[in-house]
Amino acid sequence: MGYSKEMLESMAKVAANRAANAALEPVRMTADEKDTILRENHPDYLPDQFAEIKVGPNKGEKAPLELTALLEANARIKAGDVDLNKVDYDVDVLVIGGGGAGSSAAIEADEAGAKVMIVTKLRIGDANTMMAEGGIQAADKPNDSPAIHYLDAFGGGHFAAKPELVKKLVGDAPIAIKWLSDLGVEFDKDENGNMITTHGGGTSRKRMHAAKDYSGAEIMRTLRDEVLNRGIPVVDFTAAIELIKDENGNVAGAVLMNMETKQLYVARAKTVIMATGGAGRLHYQGFPTSNHYGATADGLILGYRAGAKLLYEDSLQYHPTGVAYPEQIFGALVTEKVRSLGAKLVNADGTVFMHPLETRDVCASGIIRECDKRGNGVDTGSGLGVWLDTPMIEYKNGAGTIEKRIPAMMRMFAKFGIDIRKDPILVYPTLHYQNGGLDINVNGESTTVKNLFVAGEAVGGIHGRNRLMGNSLLDIIVFGRNAGQNAAARAKETTVGKLTLAHIAKFDAERTAAGIKTDAVSPKLLPTYTHGNPDLDETKVF
Ligand code: FUM
Repeated sequence: MGYSKEMLESMAKVAANRAANAALEPVRMTADEKDTILRENHPDYLPDQFAEIKVGPNKGEKAPLELTALLEANARIKAGDVDLNKVDYDVDVLVIGGGGAGSSAAIEADEAGAKVMIVTKLRIGDANTMMAEGGIQAADKPNDSPAIHYLDAFGGGHFAAKPELVKKLVGDAPIAIKWLSDLGVEFDKDENGNMITTHGGGTSRKRMHAAKDYSGAEIMRTLRDEVLNRGIPVVDFTAAIELIKDENGNVAGAVLMNMETKQLYVARAKTVIMATGGAGRLHYQGFPTSNHYGATADGLILGYRAGAKLLYEDSLQYHPTGVAYPEQIFGALVTEKVRSLGAKLVNADGTVFMHPLETRDVCASGIIRECDKRGNGVDTGSGLGVWLDTPMIEYKNGAGTIEKRIPAMMRMFAKFGIDIRKDPILVYPTLHYQNGGLDINVNGESTTVKNLFVAGEAVGGIHGRNRLMGNSLLDIIVFGRNAGQNAAARAKETTVGKLTLAHIAKFDAERTAAGIKTDAVSPKLLPTYTHGNPDLDETKVF
């Protein structure tokens, strides 16, 4: 690898302008400017990338092409493939997903005395939680309050979030930080033991708590330890491939599939918590992703087929700063904390072209416009990018800041011979988060299917149409715990009726009536990187 002549010339311009750029305070966009830049540049506004959903609770609404195909796909099983009288696992609360939300839910359900089990298609901790870098928001400082946090989050989400969910998110945030601290999360603290907090895009107060730039890994480490220390059973490398209902129409378990042997199992449960995470590995619109390998929207598919309504299924988050170069780490996350610490966004000419801490959707749109419309991007050899001027961090905050505050970033680039303390890095938006998901009430239960609880990235409506940095690590804790508590309480008053998979046939009949003909099967479970060679398709299990 090596920079081209053009890249080196551009990098020299960035260095030459660094002092002037560091002194600059870029103006913030007006509300109208934000609306315009989003409409003209954000991928969510490209109509030919969306299709109308023809069946199910959200029939008539639009969703990304890739998600629509999975929502309308064939189930992996027919009702007759499974003997529901032979129950392999019988629990009070079944948690599907082994990330931060699922683990938090399982811990609280266990705490409430429920018999709980986690099932996960990979391993506990193979999740977007583990990939999260920058931090977790909570208004727990004297100059801040949950009300101010509410305004930031609600406004940042374009006033589209469900107000009662945002209220719960921000109101429980300080408790979430304390809970994590008590469990053993090592948050960054100053010499007096006070939490160090920083800004994120769209925050009006410094309320981002972090563990350097591996905040998610630190949180996941702690949650996993707690799950294992409590002896909560974790059935790993086993995917949920269909929800089971009972004769009363309530969710009552799931059909599980061993990922290696493809053997099917029946898990009966009084309540189910769907915590399957995001969808970055569907690579909407061909974008690279910052997500973990298993992020394939499975929970949305399982819930939808069982009658659970989706909310904002057409809304995605493209993180402004995915790696654009080197190609080996294309799309990997460059945490927003880099910009919080002072790095600015600079174009090929060495000019700062926008405020670095606009909300994520606006910031991503600004980078796309700079590269694709204005022709001010840097040609990386495999695409375009703009500079994120990382040396500016130490220029402003002093030597040693990068190693101390964002060591993971430093290491990631150092592997490719790039010293981010000395040279800027090239970035372009990467698919990061699904804003939409299953619609829940404030107890974390599906608004349309009883005894199905949902937590984490599989939920829609907490963040509206754009999420602020650090509100996802927060929501997995707040709504994970909430779902665990409420699912355990519901389990106490639930008697499961006769198990059925009749909803698969019902959904199939709807598909036939709508004229849907497809070979696709869902849930997808793993991404398909086969380049057209069917023999390499590990996801084709039947
Ligand atoms: O930029 C980041 O560190 C990402 C944080 C988030 O998505 O909340």
